[in-house]
Amino acid sequence: MPQAPDHATLLAQVTAVGQQHVFAFYHQLNTPQQAELDRQVAALDWTLVAELIRTVVLHPQPFKLPDHIEPAPYFLHTPRDATMREKYRLARTRGEELLRKNKIAAFVVAGGQGSRLGWNGPKGTFPATAVKNKPLFQCFAEYLRAMELRFKAVIPFYIMTSTANHRATVDFWAKSNFFGLPSDQIMFFPQGMLPAVSLDGKVLLETPGTLALSPNGHGGSLLALHKSGALADMQRRGITHISYFQVDNPIVRCVDPLFIGLHDMEQADMSSKILPKLSSQEKLGNMCLVDGKMTVIEYSDFPDTLAEQRTADGALRFRAGSIALHAIRCEFVQRLNARGFALPYHRAEKKVPCVDIVTGKIWKPEKSNAIKMETFVFDALPLADRSMVYETDRLDEFAPIKNAEGVDSIASSRQITTLRNSRWLEAAGVKVPRQPDGAPDCTIEIAASFALYPEDIKARRVHLPTIKHGDQVYLE
Ligand code: UTP
Repeated sequence: MPQAPDHATLLAQVTAVGQQHVFAFYHQLNTPQQAELDRQVAALDWTLVAELIRTVVLHPQPFKLPDHIEPAPYFLHTPRDATMREKYRLARTRGEELLRKNKIAAFVVAGGQGSRLGWNGPKGTFPATAVKNKPLFQCFAEYLRAMELRFKAVIPFYIMTSTANHRATVDFWAKSNFFGLPSDQIMFFPQGMLPAVSLDGKVLLETPGTLALSPNGHGGSLLALHKSGALADMQRRGITHISYFQVDNPIVRCVDPLFIGLHDMEQADMSSKILPKLSSQEKLGNMCLVDGKMTVIEYSDFPDTLAEQRTADGALRFRAGSIALHAIRCEFVQRLNARGFALPYHRAEKKVPCVDIVTGKIWKPEKSNAIKMETFVFDALPLADRSMVYETDRLDEFAPIKNAEGVDSIASSRQITTLRNSRWLEAAGVKVPRQPDGAPDCTIEIAASFALYPEDIKARRVHLPTIKHGDQVYLE
């Protein structure tokens, strides 16, 4: 272990980049507080921080729309003809084989701050399911356990946290007995942090003895996989592909044999699932080809002149919306890190409570006072030699929980889940009571142990319930 630099060295480092005010209150701190501030300062790469302050905070380049943007080609959810049906059959078989050979790892990025949801704790601990209120983490654990049993596979599970929620996340899993997963199959690791910076380029203090730090974006996962040793651990276990997903979707297919199989057959470095957008303004990143390279252009950067374009049959021309589900080849992550991690940093203006350096008092701003700097995982797509895109079914696996209420909230997520489960049960011949407007008049939760796919329900004919108006149904 290299020795941590002493305080004088750290002071020299921050002074060299004009950020010595981070130690403005050092002499008022007690010894453990001083040690903590030294630790936080030592953990940052100040050359990078100074570079980002220059390029992202003080002299940001306005987003420049590339000249050559085409819609990304993708594999349709429902194969159009016999050739494609056969291709999908082979892909599913390939994905299942990879699972049986223990080649696939699951990877959830759970380092975000979840500020929109406003939940006091790691987002993965949020009670998400419609009947049993199972936390998001439990949904993933149960899904993976069911897949392991089905394919007699071992699926190591990597959970990225941040230094802000790492302890609470690990404690939660330990307290829950890892939801039945073998604990030696789960690896937790924190992602990198970066300081929030004032609009005039000064690193902010959250308190006199702590920096205002936030996680460096989900793109930081590709760096953290390498730095934490998770990638090396995957290598030891013989893993070749990573199934990447976000923490906020209780019905996500944490590992999907068809998707992984297609990704492998197409020899892709990094693949993505998309949904056809519901409207030109739906807030999903746009999956495009830019100069032939797979690229996500954020909805906020996508001009209406493109968003509104239609094909001859009236459909949106740019309809592929990214839902942040990826299959990633381990070898690609290795390559990205070997050549020097180089995802671009984006700036986000935020309200960040911080210490007033003159008075030492904490100041709660009413408007944006700070810039946070983040990398995005989809910015790795253009760096891939090959990339595959697959259209999934919205109802089958997209019920995100982002906000406390309204769109993408716990209420909408539960509604979508019940709708999905109604569709699955009805396809197996179960009568689901409906309200006059067609919405299910009941709440239905299906555990992964009961069904992973709608076909699993048909196979269970004898155990299917009778559902009455207003029922709360839980199937496991
Ligand atoms: P979001 O974009 O929803 O951000 O993250 P967030 O921080 O969770 O929530 P808000 O914006 O503050 O409300 C999408 C996914 O990426 C992860 C999140 O945990 C979530 O799974 N993420 C995001 C990270 O792991 N690290 C980050 O730095 C940012």
